[in-house]
Amino acid sequence: MTSSLDSRLDAIDLTDPELYRGPRGYAWSEWDLLRREAPVYWYERPGFEPFWSITRHADILAISRNTQSFTQTRTLRVFPAEVQRAMREARLADEARLGVIEAAPSSFIDMDEPQHSRYRRLVHRYFTPRANDGRMELLDRVGRECMRRLEADLESERDGPGVADLVDSVAMYMPMAVILEMLGVPEEMRLPLYRSVDEGIRANYTPETVERQRRPDFSDSYRMMTEALQGHRETAETGDTLMDVILRSRVDGEPISFKQQMGLVMLLVGAGLETTRNAISGGIHALLQHPEQLRRLCDDPSPAMIRSATEEILRWVSPVIHFARTCTRDFELRGTTLRAGQDVVMWYPSANRDEEVFEDPYRFDVARRPNDHLAFGGYGAHFCLGANLARWEIRAALRQLVPVLPRMELVEEPQRFTALGVHVGGFDKLMVRVRNADF
Ligand code: HEM
Repeated sequence: MTSSLDSRLDAIDLTDPELYRGPRGYAWSEWDLLRREAPVYWYERPGFEPFWSITRHADILAISRNTQSFTQTRTLRVFPAEVQRAMREARLADEARLGVIEAAPSSFIDMDEPQHSRYRRLVHRYFTPRANDGRMELLDRVGRECMRRLEADLESERDGPGVADLVDSVAMYMPMAVILEMLGVPEEMRLPLYRSVDEGIRANYTPETVERQRRPDFSDSYRMMTEALQGHRETAETGDTLMDVILRSRVDGEPISFKQQMGLVMLLVGAGLETTRNAISGGIHALLQHPEQLRRLCDDPSPAMIRSATEEILRWVSPVIHFARTCTRDFELRGTTLRAGQDVVMWYPSANRDEEVFEDPYRFDVARRPNDHLAFGGYGAHFCLGANLARWEIRAALRQLVPVLPRMELVEEPQRFTALGVHVGGFDKLMVRVRNADF
């Protein structure tokens, strides 16, 4: 006979995107139960390959920091079993056709050590706090452009009098304009490229889409990026955009292949657009829903307050819902043995509500300190390369928005979406009204 706890656990359906799209947001109560009763939980459901579900902050840190016991090369995201199978078959078919080296992953997120670090190192120094401090002018310029877009949207009456979509005017534009300028993508290509990347991320993954993606030129974004990268051939020796840097990159003294160059470009674009966009729109939504916190921020928009509000937004929103790994060897966790070959799935938003780490975790507090959230991962070798860039971007957006926020209100509760299955979550639109919209 199953206990009532077993049946409550059995009823949880973490792989169902609908669980993350309702008005309550993510699977908060399900993760609360798992953290309390089954933090290392063997999750087996029809239609999905089974995995260990990991919900506690400390366990996500332990797994993320242990690159010997876990590999990135089998699965990084949860998809239906038939999609996972199609992905694996596609990889084997490519290896048979092209050879293991040519078919090897071209994004360093899919690589293990020591290869991973060799590729990450190629671009790492462009993402340090210091490098971001050096692009304050770009960040502030893009911030002002965001405000002009917001103003124009409010004036246009496209969305109704005095109403604008904050996702389109600000949240998507900030990360898009910054990374594409850093890369050196021509201005006229930026918005179409963003739209195509966005479409790709939101595609409904089926075995057929996996098959289609095997063709290198399957998407408009890949074609546009190829064209943009080719456009840098002449400047590559001395140019200072990221595309120039990537074109002249060498690993072990050898130039990297075109496929690897494109892998780097696509990773930098794919990883930073949706996530930062959802952090900004989710953060503004949280502020509008917590007027006392909005007032605290607007009464004291000091750099320290903007910084702590940014960290709280990242904890609160947690744009990345999960990443997966596979055990390379048996691994003991809280008295349970995770066996070699088994997958583990780390639920970052759950870690960000862990009552063992955060006092009153369901309180949104713009001055929260300490705030050791795991929105960017568990501080291992794969910790988000763009964490600082994302922080600098969110802060730049907040600095611009602070004077307007006290006059802003939600028009309606926004619709949530998830992309890449249940990998990232956010809002499609965030319709706001601004009183006296004269910036
Ligand atoms: C709020 C925005 C963002 C969030 C929440 C986020 C979150 C994450 C997470 C959870 C990981 C996995 C960490 C791990 O496995 O331990 C990751 C990896 C990564 N992120 Fe971000 N990210 C954001 C923005 C960005 C930006 C702006 C960029 C670059 C332009 C970026 C580039 C990357 C890359 C390249 C990786 C792979 C790192 C590696 O494998 O070494 N991310 N991110």
